[in-house]
Amino acid sequence: MKIIRAKDYNDMSRKAANIISAQVIMKPHCVLGLATGGTPVGTYAQLIDWYNKGDIDFSEVTTVNLDEYRGLPRDHEQSYWYFMHKNLFNSINVQPDHIFVPNGSNPDADAACKEYDDIIHMVGGVDLQLLGIGHDGHIGFNEPGAAFELGTHCVDLTEETIDANTRFFGNRDDVPRQAYTMGIKTIMQARKVLMVANGADKADIIKKAFFGPVTPEVPASILQMHPDFILVGDEAALSKV
Ligand code: F6R
Repeated sequence: MKIIRAKDYNDMSRKAANIISAQVIMKPHCVLGLATGGTPVGTYAQLIDWYNKGDIDFSEVTTVNLDEYRGLPRDHEQSYWYFMHKNLFNSINVQPDHIFVPNGSNPDADAACKEYDDIIHMVGGVDLQLLGIGHDGHIGFNEPGAAFELGTHCVDLTEETIDANTRFFGNRDDVPRQAYTMGIKTIMQARKVLMVANGADKADIIKKAFFGPVTPEVPASILQMHPDFILVGDEAALSKV
C-alpha cells in the first residue's frame, strides 16, 4: 500500500489524474475502472483539461464503471451512465463502444451481472481501478458485511445510503432501492487500484480501513492485501494516519 499526501482537493485531483494519465501513456489500450461520487469529479476535470491541451489521448482506452442503480434508464439524470458522460466521457475522445457501465435497465439481475462480468473478462480485466470510499468503508456498492469473494452482483441499498442519496433525487421514494455493483473480488482483480479521498469527514474511515484489521465489516480494508494499491488523500482525509 502506498499513501500519497496531497495538500488539498485540487492537489489530490491532480495527483490522481497524473497516475491515470501515466497508465494511459504507458498502455494506450488500457482498461480503466471508473467511479462516480463527488470525490473523483476534480480528477475527471483535470483529465479533460490535459486532453484539451493534447497531453492525453483516450482513443484506445476502454472504461468499465463500478456500479449502476437497478431500474434507472441510462438517460435518467441520476444514473451513473449519465454522470460519467456529463463529467468525463462527453469531453474526451473515448470511443462510445468502449464505454461500459452495468445495465441498470435490465431487470434480470443475474443476467445483468453475468453480462458485466463477461464484459470485464472479454476486455482483459481492469488495468487501473479508481475508487472513492464511503463513510462506512464501502467501495462500489459493497456495504459492510459484503462477502469478499463476490463478482458483479445486485445489492439492496442500506437505509443510510438511501438517506444520503435522497439529496440527489429530491424525494426519498424516488431513490432506487437496489444497485448492480462490481464485487470485492472484481475490484481486487484489478492490476492497480487507486483510491481518492478528501475531507475531514473521511479521516476516521481512512484510519479504520487501512490501519485496522482486514474485515468484511470495513469492505475497503481488503485493499491492504492488494499488491498495487495507492491511496491519494488530502491533508484532512489523512489527518488521523
Ligand atoms: C461510486 C461508488 C461509491 C463512492 C463512495 C464515495 O461509483 O461506488 O462507492 O465512491 O460512496 O462517494 P463520494 O466520493 O461522493 O464521497
